[in-house]
Amino acid sequence: MATLRTVAEFREHVRSLGVDIPLDDSLQPGASDPLAQPYRLGDRTIGNRFAVLPMEGWDATAEGLPSDRTFRRWKRFGASGAKLIWGGEAVAVREDGRASPNELLINDANLSGIEALRTALVNEHRDRFGSTESLYIGLQLTHSGRYSKPHDHNRPEPKIVYRHPILDRRLKLADDYPLVTDDDLKRLTVRFVDAAKLAFKAGYDFVDIKQCHSYLGHELLSAVDRPGEYGGSFENRTRFARNVIEGVRSEAPGLKIGVRLNAADWRPFKPGDDGRGIPEPWPLESAQTQADRGESPPYPYAFGGDGTGLGIDLAEPIRLIDQFHAWGVELLCVTLGSPYYNPHFLRPALFPPTDGYKPPEDPLVGVARHIAITALLKKRRPELAFVGSGYSYLQERLAEVGRTVAARGMADFIGVGRMALSYPELPADALAGRAFDRKRVCRTFSDCTSSPRNGLASGCYPLDPFYKNLAEADELKRRKSLWNENKGK
Ligand SMILES: Cc1cc2nc3c(=O)[nH]c(=O)nc-3n(C[C@H](O)[C@H](O)[C@H](O)COP(=O)(O)O)c2cc1C
Ligand code: SF4
Repeated sequence: MATLRTVAEFREHVRSLGVDIPLDDSLQPGASDPLAQPYRLGDRTIGNRFAVLPMEGWDATAEGLPSDRTFRRWKRFGASGAKLIWGGEAVAVREDGRASPNELLINDANLSGIEALRTALVNEHRDRFGSTESLYIGLQLTHSGRYSKPHDHNRPEPKIVYRHPILDRRLKLADDYPLVTDDDLKRLTVRFVDAAKLAFKAGYDFVDIKQCHSYLGHELLSAVDRPGEYGGSFENRTRFARNVIEGVRSEAPGLKIGVRLNAADWRPFKPGDDGRGIPEPWPLESAQTQADRGESPPYPYAFGGDGTGLGIDLAEPIRLIDQFHAWGVELLCVTLGSPYYNPHFLRPALFPPTDGYKPPEDPLVGVARHIAITALLKKRRPELAFVGSGYSYLQERLAEVGRTVAARGMADFIGVGRMALSYPELPADALAGRAFDRKRVCRTFSDCTSSPRNGLASGCYPLDPFYKNLAEADELKRRKSLWNENKGK
């Protein structure tokens, strides 16, 4: 991307990839800028079409309260100029569902901390922009399921809802490793509803009932083998989401409901001989025998997948989005893939994190995939407010593409993830027609992911002076070079 200096070069490169990324450069900043248009949601107005995506920092206290670094990040979100704050970051609804001992936790004891985060963001926004009238803020509620590590960064304590032949092997789970029981899912439903009530009390406009990124809500959607009330049929696999959403609607009337949804998923990937990502073989041990028999058993564990583990079929996600609409969900944030086992789908990037692999495709193909899937779903359910993801790799072209996507109604909001860490004010600069500060444009170095994978707090170590100057920056460099030396051993 960094070598594509002009719009013409960008267009030519995108064409050579055989994908479509819309960019109409007749659309300009100013009063008619599609990104500057307000969005009407019920009786509220959201002031523009930029959204900050949830970005956790692995920097909460042991109790699950925000630290100074958490406050700093949220203030920067407030300073971004985006009028929709999608969830802030993942907040666990129960101790056993924290993705790390430094994930935020929502409960009665922590309510004032969760409230203070929102207040800090709102105050920062007011200081910068003079008003907070059309600012709309949600809180992302989650249970980390298979990727729970509540006590120690190095000690996974997975809460799995079904046996996954590849992922169980990666986590070294014993054959008799227990599944989360139906009774526990019922207790967890109550926890989600209670957490939503607390978020409402803390002043949040909506909650995101997270259904993405291989955490518990998402894993349930592909629980095809699970016996009982929460597995097998589409109705059973979506029961948990439905019960939480219905519970929130009846117990916190007035609180809006959003869902961050994995619209598609794929097989886990791993580094191939040249370090590039390749999909895990499927089926596993029996592959040869099955292939000998000319059989190709389906890969059933990718929600939104076509049964091969490599392709997309949006029939079930569309059916689910129709249900969400019927259940009263009003906002939908579209995302893809998993941060743990196929991150290139989720975060198109040139440089892999230390536990990753070199990109198996031009990252612009990943950007185009996000845009196309979101546009298709928006067309299907125009009543919902749609937020797109995966734009940061566009770098200097982020606003121009975002403007075109918004103008064409392919998404209502342009979500900004990694860019909000390196250069939070990019939305404000884009809306004001100011030239971008090129030194702060996210170059997808992936240090914000490599740091937590190495037990360190997340942040933009390469470009944000605050992180660049921390002792952790040297530690991260040391661990990255160790990883480079040991690769493949
Ligand atoms: C450091 C880091 C933290 C993230 N934290 C969250 C999170 O708490 N919740 C979530 O839904 N997604 C999270 N994501 C995913 C982002 O919200 C976003 O989907 C992804 O980075 C792709 O968008 P981008 O291209 O703008 O970065 C995180 C990503 C990164 C890199
Ligand atoms: S560390 Fe900074 S530059 Fe690298 S991906 Fe994260 S935000 Fe972007």
